[in-house]
Amino acid sequence: MFRRICFLVLMAVCYTSVYSQYNSLWIPDTLSGTTFNLNIKDTFSQIVAVPGNQTVTSAVNGNFWGPTLILNQGDLVHMNVKNNTNDSTTIHWHGMHLPAIMDGGPHQIIPQGSLWQPYWTVTNQAATLWYHPHLHEMTMEQVTKGIGGFIIVRDTIEAALALPRTYAVDDIPLMISDRSFNGLKQFTTVPYGDSLIVNGVLRPQYNIPAQVVRLRLLDAAIERSYNIGFSDNRTFYVIATDGGLLSAPIGVTRYLLSAGERIEILVNCTGQSGTNVDLKAFNSTLNNFIPGGENFVGGPFANALGKKDFNILHLNIGASTSSPITTIPSALITNVFPTEASSVITRTITLTDSAGVPGILGPNAFVLEHKLFDYNHISHEVPLDNTEIWELKSTSVFAHPFHIHDVEFHLLTRNGATPPNYEQGWKDVVLVKGGETVRFIAKFNDFSDSLHPFMYHCHISLHEDEGMMGQFVVTNGSSVNKIIDANVSKDFSIYPNPANNRLFFKFDDLNTKAYYVTIVNTVGKTVYMLPSPQLMEGIDISSLAAGAYTLRLTDSVTKLTSVKKFIKE
Ligand code: C2O
Ligand code: CU
Ligand code: CU
Repeated sequence: MFRRICFLVLMAVCYTSVYSQYNSLWIPDTLSGTTFNLNIKDTFSQIVAVPGNQTVTSAVNGNFWGPTLILNQGDLVHMNVKNNTNDSTTIHWHGMHLPAIMDGGPHQIIPQGSLWQPYWTVTNQAATLWYHPHLHEMTMEQVTKGIGGFIIVRDTIEAALALPRTYAVDDIPLMISDRSFNGLKQFTTVPYGDSLIVNGVLRPQYNIPAQVVRLRLLDAAIERSYNIGFSDNRTFYVIATDGGLLSAPIGVTRYLLSAGERIEILVNCTGQSGTNVDLKAFNSTLNNFIPGGENFVGGPFANALGKKDFNILHLNIGASTSSPITTIPSALITNVFPTEASSVITRTITLTDSAGVPGILGPNAFVLEHKLFDYNHISHEVPLDNTEIWELKSTSVFAHPFHIHDVEFHLLTRNGATPPNYEQGWKDVVLVKGGETVRFIAKFNDFSDSLHPFMYHCHISLHEDEGMMGQFVVTNGSSVNKIIDANVSKDFSIYPNPANNRLFFKFDDLNTKAYYVTIVNTVGKTVYMLPSPQLMEGIDISSLAAGAYTLRLTDSVTKLTSVKKFIKE
């Protein structure tokens, strides 16, 4: 009996110590240059440290979460995105300012087995962005599986500042999320996970030098916000929000980071060699209407981390490096935001609970502008170069992280008041709390395209998949009503029609080249898209199901799009 108790006690001790052991944080490799090869595939990963229990995942190049892409402002970059998974997907460059057709939203579908080759000139300033799938109604599932990665944009202004930027040493990307596992250690697709992960690692620890360290924090969760802080309540310095550096570091002890948002922070560990500190989420103090502040006891939202404080990353502080940054700079960059007076229109976007759409929605759905997402509905036409105020007006009980594509914005007010200074940089996600009205200003420059919309949506993937999303087009005034006018755009012919394996096209004007092609099926879904380099040998349509399609061809001269119908045999 005694021996048996001893055995049980020993087991419990062993189990506890194994369970509480830290795993080393994995840091994604970097890819740099101007051509990036991203191979999305179904794979598996040893996430739970039980040999044999590998978790089925999907990921870019590796097994969970992809390489960090280092892009330089001013570079023309080409992406070769190969979808080797068993499903269609898309890859969206979250925060990047680029043409709508390169954006990787729900319309830029990459069918199984195909290659997508968007390209653009990087105009963003230095910032931490990210890429992730955006296939409508599938985003939550595909993000859960592990598809995504960081993008670090560098520019000369940031490069001249005395900031830590040695990747993985004093400049560390942290993708913060949570997952739940079933009995077979496989992911369950749920809004809230029971276990915190950083870069795909459970209970992570990392060694950092005793100096100023820069952490790039991304909330890549399906739903949860993280109330970021340190176990010793030390002050840390926010130096950048979603779209780039603040004008000066802002010292805080907590920062509420919501799904889709990024911050870069500086932590001063100078002289602290031999000590350790935990990066934590202090979610016990969140109210019930902030994602992660609820404490569900049962049902699909129940989870072990709800309304709790928990560790994110255990940091062991070791010796400093040879030329460390040891002080927090007092100033960073000069940001010039559009003035309120330069705005030509205020658009109101409502965020409401299903009660706002009687009879249409289930009890848990949230909507923008009183309607569910509809592929064929464009809610706003924004004239190119407009400076606009968007007023996000919530009557929802719950907080929603609102995200807009194409632009970085500047927050003007939260419920009429000036937002806190750490929210006054460039942003592309803003948490709109229940009942709040949030106003931001943005300039919609560079890319007009009347046929290809940009998205705006709640970045809680569950809500987005359920239809809390809308779309806008940026229009070049002169082309609004002439999109398919052959006298303005460049006319072309396609052959053969009906077609079987390859479809060819020819512009009437031989000097015109294709800029982009998409093929849309009868219900308006894009089933195929490719930019110009691949179009010389015709378009491989062998994988399309038989039926009627519309081919949309954008020419390189006018950037306008003409359409032709064809039949796939
Ligand atoms: Cu990060 Cu429309 O998404
Ligand atoms: Cu985005
Ligand atoms: Cu939402």
